[in-house]
Amino acid sequence: MQQGRDGFSSRFGVIAAAAGSAIGLGNIWRFPYVLGENGGGAFFLVYMAFILVLGVPLMLTEMSIGRAGQRNPYGTFRFLAPKTKWYLVGVMGVAAAFLILSFYSAVAGWTLQYLFDAVTDGFSGKSSVELNGMFESFRSSTYAPSIWTLVFLVMTGCVVVAGVEKGIEKYAKVLMPLLFVIIIILDIRAVTLDGAEEGLKFLFHPDFSKLDSKAVLEALGQAFFSLSLGMGTMITYGSYIGKKENLFSSATSVSLADTAIAVLAGVAIFPAVFAFGIKPDSGPGLVFITLPNVFQQMPGGYFFSVLFFFLLVIAALTSSISLLEVVVSYFTEELKISRAKATVISFISIGVFGVMCSLSSGPLKEATIFDKTIFDMFDYISSNILLPVAGFLIVIFTGWKWARKSVSNEILGKDKPETSLFKVFMFIIKFIAPFAIALVFMNAVGILDL
Ligand code: PFF
Repeated sequence: MQQGRDGFSSRFGVIAAAAGSAIGLGNIWRFPYVLGENGGGAFFLVYMAFILVLGVPLMLTEMSIGRAGQRNPYGTFRFLAPKTKWYLVGVMGVAAAFLILSFYSAVAGWTLQYLFDAVTDGFSGKSSVELNGMFESFRSSTYAPSIWTLVFLVMTGCVVVAGVEKGIEKYAKVLMPLLFVIIIILDIRAVTLDGAEEGLKFLFHPDFSKLDSKAVLEALGQAFFSLSLGMGTMITYGSYIGKKENLFSSATSVSLADTAIAVLAGVAIFPAVFAFGIKPDSGPGLVFITLPNVFQQMPGGYFFSVLFFFLLVIAALTSSISLLEVVVSYFTEELKISRAKATVISFISIGVFGVMCSLSSGPLKEATIFDKTIFDMFDYISSNILLPVAGFLIVIFTGWKWARKSVSNEILGKDKPETSLFKVFMFIIKFIAPFAIALVFMNAVGILDL
């Protein structure tokens, strides 16, 4: 039962939309700074291992659940496991979407301001120290960041109300490949800067003494965040995928594209971080301080900075749409309210929290819980708690609750014999993934002390 939904029209459409969700601020803004705060190379290796061993299988799992359920995540679990409490996983997804969208739109607001600065040539002639000051004074001010946050949420709401397929999917197909090209050009500039080797060493040379259990959990949270896993986004998108599509190849292509963008972003940023004497653990401002420095050092810097921030806004938008879609599809299908009404309600409530997140770099800096600002708290709870816990429950559901035959029907096609790849996948889902997620999580929160 499609419940009046459109399906994705082509195989490339599926990949573009799912990659549009996965590729976003998580790759270009969050990945470099979280890596910078957690010591570099060793974090990178652990991150890659999580993408490969947990990320790809979990993405395949979520897409399969969604395609089998043909509903929003909450409705899907009610349909696949009636009269049980599994629907709570869907509820957790809605909660995570709500929290993520709040801080995500605050950062997306920063990218809008930076697009504006790029267009008005605002970086030109500024030293590294001045660019740093420019970012700090902008994000700690009251009005500009809050207004940009709301502008971004309005943009997201407009696309979601209009329907995703004919708008953003169409543009994502062109703009996402363009983003690849721009990052590669930035990479070339960054690695040819004087002193670039130190940055590359930081990124690719693992120093395991810098890795603690907290960093391992951060790597897991980052992997899930980056691939949009553990909150029902890929379940929702899976419900739009036609039965003929090969989910194995969709899940691997999306994960590959996402990881490639994260690595390319790291290569664009760290050589410049070291070349310009910026601290790798500068936190959320890292990209905003580093890249304007790079633009200044390259021919056509004006042109590239405008294009880059434009594409970053688009990348953020295709992700925020998928986040809002989780909340809106839940409201419309389960509470039976119109799409427009659901979008307005979500906008108002997320807008309030979004502005609070945005103000937590300035006027609300002192409002902390467990030493974390509202912004950091929302980020921490969603990425490091809700996503891993829901991810854990989703693999348990697939490995232990859902009939193996149904899983194979969904992934391989009806009544097809199990392939060896499928057997490996089931082994990971049943034994490795739940164990690994639980271990990392319990160790980091202190329930277990390894
Ligand atoms: N994956 C997105 C990014 O890397 O920017 C963020 C995101 C989107 C997280 C959708 C979770 C989600 F459901």
